[in-house]
Amino acid sequence: MNSLTKIISVAAILVAPAFAGAAGGGAALDHFTPERTDRTLQRGAKVFMNYCSGCHSADYHRYSHMARDIGLSDSAVVENLIFTTDDAGEKTKVGALMGNNMSAEYGKEAFGVVPPNLALVARSRGVDWLYTYMRSFYLDESRPFGANNTVFPQVGMPHVLSDLQGWRKPIYTTDSEGHEKLAGFQQVTAGTLSEDEYDATITDLVSFLDYLGDPNREARHSLGIKVMLFLLIFLVLAVFLKKEYWKDIPH
Ligand code: HEC
Repeated sequence: MNSLTKIISVAAILVAPAFAGAAGGGAALDHFTPERTDRTLQRGAKVFMNYCSGCHSADYHRYSHMARDIGLSDSAVVENLIFTTDDAGEKTKVGALMGNNMSAEYGKEAFGVVPPNLALVARSRGVDWLYTYMRSFYLDESRPFGANNTVFPQVGMPHVLSDLQGWRKPIYTTDSEGHEKLAGFQQVTAGTLSEDEYDATITDLVSFLDYLGDPNREARHSLGIKVMLFLLIFLVLAVFLKKEYWKDIPH
């Protein structure tokens, strides 16, 4: 093996897991660009707290930090977004972590697997995966909760947004090489939202999950730009200074 082939095979080994992870359940992923406006994140927080936080916690975050980041007052969060109680049986305080009221034992018993913490799921799964996953549940009577998912086959999670999306069934076609391919979904029962409205709701939700995974991204980027500007100005000064110092020295 010459050194070039060695380098190529090592590179292939390093890159392979990235592709394997991205492939997920084998279904193609839709591209998603998260939004960071307060309005989007507020709507996303509402969906998350109403439909997800019963089972999933996000307890690397405090309600009060979230409120500040997405432009809500503490009292608005207490009134509209906190549905859990603390150990003393009182409504969870706004300074508390965003947990849930479901014990791990209960989760395991009810779903066969404990619903994972979603605080960092946008980083572990990626936003394309999340956006596609939340739009890929389908009716499957053979599953315990009547739901399956083309991105996460045999998923243990029920289709918690079926009221909004309704129920759908996947349509498969066979490509020229004989492989079965997902061609789309067929609506079986209607939900309260149209397809576009449902996609917009998932845009809000996944944008909120993206925010949870990296709450300080905006601040970091703007600081990064300032640091680069400073270095650029400093470079110009340094060049002039160097010219000045070396002016009288023959070289
Ligand atoms: C009734 C309980 C329940 C609710 C409500 C619920 N989930 Fe789940 N969720 C689960 C369970 C159980 C799993 C684990 C599935 C498995 O591993 O098979 C899961 C898995 C997931 C995963 C995959 C995590 C991973 O990396 O494997 C994501 C993402 C997720 N849920 C997002 C959501 C979102 C977003 C909502 C709200 C719209 C939500 N869930 C509401 C029970 C729930």
